[in-house]
Amino acid sequence: MPLGQRVRFDDVRKSFNGVESGPYLDVAARGLLFEGGRAALMAHLDDAARGTTDKAALFASVEETRGLFAALIRATPDEITFTRNVTDGIAAFGAGLDWKVGDGVLLCEELEHPANIYPWFGLARRFGLAIKTIAPVDGALAADRIVEAIEPSTRVIAVSSVSFAPGFRFAVAQLGAECRRRGILLLVDAAQSIGVIETDVGAWQADAIAVSTQKGLLSTYGLGMLYVRREVAEALTPVYISRFGVDVTGHEASRGDPASFECAPGARRFDLGNYNYPAILAVEQALRLLLDIGPAAIESRVLGLASSFADRMLDLGLPVFGGRPGQHSSHIVTIGRDLGEDHDATGDPALVSLYRHLVAGGVRLTIRRNLLRFSFHLYNDESDIMTVAELVEQWRRSARS
Ligand SMILES: Cc1ncc(COP(=O)(O)O)c(C=O)c1O
Repeated sequence: MPLGQRVRFDDVRKSFNGVESGPYLDVAARGLLFEGGRAALMAHLDDAARGTTDKAALFASVEETRGLFAALIRATPDEITFTRNVTDGIAAFGAGLDWKVGDGVLLCEELEHPANIYPWFGLARRFGLAIKTIAPVDGALAADRIVEAIEPSTRVIAVSSVSFAPGFRFAVAQLGAECRRRGILLLVDAAQSIGVIETDVGAWQADAIAVSTQKGLLSTYGLGMLYVRREVAEALTPVYISRFGVDVTGHEASRGDPASFECAPGARRFDLGNYNYPAILAVEQALRLLLDIGPAAIESRVLGLASSFADRMLDLGLPVFGGRPGQHSSHIVTIGRDLGEDHDATGDPALVSLYRHLVAGGVRLTIRRNLLRFSFHLYNDESDIMTVAELVEQWRRSARS
C-alpha cells in the first residue's frame, strides 16, 4: 500500500475511540461509532435539550444523507428511502409488490439472516406465495445454483451480498445479470457488506438493496436505508401512504386533496413521517468519511487485512472456515470446522476456550453458528492481527502445558 494511503488510514484510526481498548474485530455485529458522527449526535441532543432545534437544518441533513448514500452505491437520491432496519426495508419492498397466488420467491434459508427470511414467509402466508429454498454447499451459495432453481413462477430472488456466517461473498453481479435478462426482481441484503465492500448498483443490477447503519456505516442502531431501482419503485405501492411519501408542493403538512394523492418519485414513496434525525445526523458524517477515503481504497485495505489475518490463523494451525483466502473471501473471517444451527453459540469446547481467552485479552469478536467470527473495517490495522496472533500462541502454549 502506498505510504500516503497508509498514513491516511493511521489518521482515520484515531477518529474511532473504540480501537484503544484492544482489537475491535466485530463490525459484523456492529461497527465502532465514528467520532464525527458522535459529535453531530451530541450537538443534536444539546439542541433538543436547549430548545434550539432547527427543523429546516434537519430536513437538509435528511436530503444530504440520502444523496451521500446514493453516491456511495452509485444510485440517484430518488432511489433511496429511509427505513428502521434491514428487515423493514425488505418488508417494505416485498409488501409493495402486486403479488398473485403462486408467485415464487427463491432464497437460501440456511445462509440468510432472519431479516431476509421472515418478511417473505409473512408475505407467503398473506398472498399464497411459493417459497423455494436453495441449499448451500460448504457454507457457500453459487449463483449458478440459484439460476438452476428458477421456475417460470419465480418473481423475486433474495440473497445477501456477504453472509453473516461464514462470511462468504456472493457473486451478486453474476446473478443480477441473469435476473435482469429474465425479468426477475433481485433483492440484496447488503447489511454485512455496506461501507466495507464496494457497492455499485449498476454492476450488481439489483432491484432493491436493504442496509442498516450500525455495521459498516459506523453509526447507530435504529436506521436503515433501502435502494429501489427507480423504474421498479414506480411500479410499487407502499403499504403505508404518508405525508413524506406523496408528491406535494409547499409545506409537507399543507392541506391538499388527500383523496387524489400521487406517490412521490422513486423510492421516496416509502418515506413516512418524521425521520430518525439523530441516527441520520450520525450516518451523514460517516458517509462523508467513507466517500472521502473512497470505497475502492477501503475495500482493498480491509480485504487485505482480513486476508493476512486468515493466512496467519491458518499458519497457527487454526481451522479457518473455507481455507486459504480466495474468491469467496470478505472482511469476515470465521474459525471452526462446521457451520452450525445455533445463531450465537458453539458446542466445540476448544472454540469456547479460545473465545474466552481472546475476550479476556481485550479482543471483541462474536460466536456465530458454531464459528468464531472476526470482522474488519477501516479502523483496523496490522497491530490488531498481531495481538490476536500472540493471544492464540499463548492459548496454544497454555493448552499444551
Ligand atoms: C445479513 C444480515 N441481515 C440483516 C441483519 C440485521 O437485520 P435488522 O437490521 O433488520 O435487524 C444482520 C445482522 O444484524 C445481518 O447480518
